[in-house]
Amino acid sequence: MSQEAITNKSKVAIIGCGRVSEKHIRAVTGLSDRLSLCALVDTNPDAPSHLLSACKKKIKKYKDVCASLKTYIDYKQMLNDLHPDIVAITVPSGLHFQIAKDCLEANANILLEKPMTMSNKSSRELYELAASKGLRIAMGHIYRYFPIVSLLHEDMVSGAFGKAGHGSVIVRWGHENEYYQQAAWRGTWKSDGGALMNQTVHALDLMCYLMNSEAVSVNGMIARRFRDMEAEDTAMGVYTFANGALCQVEGTTATFPKEHEASFFINTEKAAIRISLYKGKPSYSIRTPKGKNLAFKYLRRYIKQNGLSYLISVAKNPHYGIYTDLYRAITTSSSPIADGRSGYLAVDMVLGFYRSVLKKTEIELPLPGEFKIEEMAKFEL
Ligand SMILES: NC(=O)c1ccc[n+]([C@@H]2O[C@H](COP(=O)([O-])OP(=O)(O)OC[C@H]3O[C@@H](n4cnc5c(N)ncnc54)[C@H](O)[C@@H]3O)[C@@H](O)[C@H]2O)c1
Repeated sequence: MSQEAITNKSKVAIIGCGRVSEKHIRAVTGLSDRLSLCALVDTNPDAPSHLLSACKKKIKKYKDVCASLKTYIDYKQMLNDLHPDIVAITVPSGLHFQIAKDCLEANANILLEKPMTMSNKSSRELYELAASKGLRIAMGHIYRYFPIVSLLHEDMVSGAFGKAGHGSVIVRWGHENEYYQQAAWRGTWKSDGGALMNQTVHALDLMCYLMNSEAVSVNGMIARRFRDMEAEDTAMGVYTFANGALCQVEGTTATFPKEHEASFFINTEKAAIRISLYKGKPSYSIRTPKGKNLAFKYLRRYIKQNGLSYLISVAKNPHYGIYTDLYRAITTSSSPIADGRSGYLAVDMVLGFYRSVLKKTEIELPLPGEFKIEEMAKFEL
């Protein structure tokens, strides 16, 4: 359906009914004044009903939602029958490109889970295809939607923080071997990648957003320490950004699953910013040179701008923020906060890192030519 034809309520279809899709269903049904869920698609015919019953208690008007949606095993059939306004693509990462391309070609806006695709060239192709058709791509880069993050970005853009000095990121997103054994695609070079491509990509995207800059080079190392998988479970490296800032990155799934942590530190001329999510609890500190913490000031500003109920909704489920923003972008002909460009830049950062591992040298970004993640299969871990 074209942009002009979008009515007040956008029809949303979800392709892929696995782990992450529950967050999508909760967000879409929570925005029932703007969105209506029209279809669930999965090649496993039992997956839609399993998904619905798993999140039954979290869906408002559950019976009405179930009655008004259709299920499919073939997404092309769904596109043909329903012409959805928005398609959420929540399939294994190695399938993102083809499905996203088919949805864009069917004139649907897409909410594409991260990572955008498994090569820099195909990510860019999706971005350009959407732009040429006037369609929106919203990426599943959830960290951009955490409370106050948009304000920190605004203040970095306006110069309120002065120049960015350096940044430091820790992503200790522990998973046991059972996680990698849940599905054949997990932890493989061809369809997933390791801790960097799957888990740390969120953090790399956030650093671009908060630094208001793009990475121009990277030097990285990877290892497989404790997890039984093909790709790496641990990555460490340093990026240089176009604004001169350096950013060190630690991304791993080889830590304890009960100790999930994603922490960010950005040092600027006028502020020392820390954002941390530890065991599900967020904390923020925005210190002035005199040591004053401005976190509450930012929180008040965020609530004034967005309302308390929005804050609570995104804190519980950041995908609520992505859908709210995508709907706004479609209806106001503007860009989503986590747009298609953020998608291909994040993939370029990850692939540059991997290429630096393969070549054992610093790599300039954006990558020239094409680099597919499956080339990492040549690397002996
Ligand atoms: N943004 C986030 O916070 C977040 C969190 C988790 C996962 N993800 C991303 O979401 C994607 C899915 O991850 P997951 O953990 O839900 O995976 P999953 O394996 O649990 O679910 C994938 C589902 O897709 C289905 N599927 C496979 N091929 C299909 C096809 N051709 N058509 C329709 N359905 C198909 C599978 O049967 C399965 O039900 C991945 O790209 C992952 O990186 C994002």
